[in-house]
Amino acid sequence: MNAFYQMDSPVIVTHPLAQIHLTVMRRTETTCSDFRWHLHRLAEILFMEASRGLETASIKIQTPLAETDGQDFARPIVLVPILRAGLGLQDAILPLVPEATVAHIGIARDEETAQPMPYYAKLPSVLNEADVFLLDPMLATGGSACAAASQLKEAGAKRLVLVCVVSCPPGLQAFAARHPDVPVYTAAVDQGLNDRCFIVPGLGDAGDRCFGT
Ligand code: PRP
Repeated sequence: MNAFYQMDSPVIVTHPLAQIHLTVMRRTETTCSDFRWHLHRLAEILFMEASRGLETASIKIQTPLAETDGQDFARPIVLVPILRAGLGLQDAILPLVPEATVAHIGIARDEETAQPMPYYAKLPSVLNEADVFLLDPMLATGGSACAAASQLKEAGAKRLVLVCVVSCPPGLQAFAARHPDVPVYTAAVDQGLNDRCFIVPGLGDAGDRCFGT
């Protein structure tokens, strides 16, 4: 069994660097370019933790001096950013695993009802044999992440991990109820949601802050 599934969830990444990057991202006065830069640094740290349970396979390699043992990924890796804010995580994580396949799931939250509205999906055929990392900076009501994880499972994904920057108890509870087999890695569990279903204190709208809209 994959080591992912033996971990308690959520895993809160408390590394001091992660918390310092998150603090800058939260500040209202942080500019769009600074927000993106700190998001990318934080994404690298989150992914280092989220990928800790990845299985590797032993391989024989030749150094300039001798044959020796090395490690390679046991399975294909698939990164799945939820459009659009998930792209900010993907930009930083893909260089760490350049051989990964990138799938895209487009979901926009309805501004009135906060319900997830799926609008796009492009998924690879290797999902059933892959280690799949679902990427979204925010887990608010959990609706978007739940819908995306269900879509991935329906398409064959068996080993899934959710990487998010900021979560909150309602989102974590909703996600755990629907996907108890999918561990969540997050840098923070915030107080909760306001009446518009935004995470409080949160960091605002991650997509808008990342892309300057
Ligand atoms: C935001 C955020 C998550 C979702 C979280 O996306 O990036 O995808 O809402 O909310 P939930 O947990 O209640 O579903 P949004 O729909 O604003 O789209 P965007 O990424 O294009 O900004």
